[in-house]
Amino acid sequence: MTEETERRNFYGRTHGKTLRASQKQYLAEDLGRISLSGVTRDDNPARAPLDLAALTGGRPLWLEVGFGGGEHLVHMAARYPGVFIIGCEPFVNGVAMLLGKVRQAGLDNLVIHPGDVRDLFDVLPDACVEKCFLNYPDPWPKARHHRRRFVTPGYLSALARVTKPGAEFRVATDIPDYVRQTLEEVPPAGFDLVRQAGEGEAWEDWLCTRYEQKALREGRAPNYLTFRRQG
Ligand SMILES: C[S@@+](CC[C@H](N)C(=O)[O-])C[C@H]1O[C@@H](n2cnc3c(N)ncnc32)[C@H](O)[C@@H]1O
Repeated sequence: MTEETERRNFYGRTHGKTLRASQKQYLAEDLGRISLSGVTRDDNPARAPLDLAALTGGRPLWLEVGFGGGEHLVHMAARYPGVFIIGCEPFVNGVAMLLGKVRQAGLDNLVIHPGDVRDLFDVLPDACVEKCFLNYPDPWPKARHHRRRFVTPGYLSALARVTKPGAEFRVATDIPDYVRQTLEEVPPAGFDLVRQAGEGEAWEDWLCTRYEQKALREGRAPNYLTFRRQG
C-alpha cells in the first residue's frame, strides 16, 4: 500500500435519511451476495489484483462510478446481458435503492463495491475495463474543492491504467464548469474526446436518471461527453 492510499480521504456522504424497513432488509439479505470481495483493505490487505476471469466468465467488463440509486446501472445490465458490470457507490441509501431494483430485475451480470472507487482501482488489473460511466459526478462547486472532482489526475491516472486501449469513457454532467475541467483534464490522462453533445442528444442507450430529471426541472442542461482510451 502506498502512502497515498493510506491517507485517502472521502469527502462525500455515506449515509442519508433513515432507511425504509424494506431497504434495511435488502441490505441485510442481499448486500453480501452482490458485493465484490477482495476490494476493501480488510478483505485484501495485500491489495492483490482481482481474478476477473472467475468473476466475469470472460464477458467484457464495464464500470459505473457513483451509481446513485442504480437506475442507469440496472438498465445497462438488463440491456446488455452479455456484459459484466461493476458499480461503485459509497452512499448506503443509494446502495439500498439499487438492491431493490436488482431484486425486481433478477440480474446476475452485475456486482457492486459499496464504497470508494479508488479502493476498486487499487485491485483491478491493468487494461481490463472496456467501458466506464461517470454520470452526474459530485460537482464540488467551490473553486477550492475542484481538486476533489473525479476529473483530476489521481482518479484519471487510475482510470487510464485499468481501461483497455479503445475503451469508452462517458461523462454526463449538468455543470458547465465540470465540462470545462473534464475537457482540460481527461485528454492529458490518455483519452481522446470523440463526442460532445447537449440536451436531447444523449447516447442511444442512455437512461435519464433521477438526478438528471431534477437538473432538467431546475433548468440545468445536460452535457454528454464521450472519450476513447488511447493506444
Ligand atoms: C450527484 S450523484 C449522481 C448519482 C447517479 N450517477 C445519477 O446520475 O443519478 C454522484 C454520486 O457519486 C458518488 N461518489 C462520489 N465520490 C465517489 C467515489 N470516490 N467513488 C464512488 N462513488 C462516488 C456519490 O456518493 C454520489 O452518489
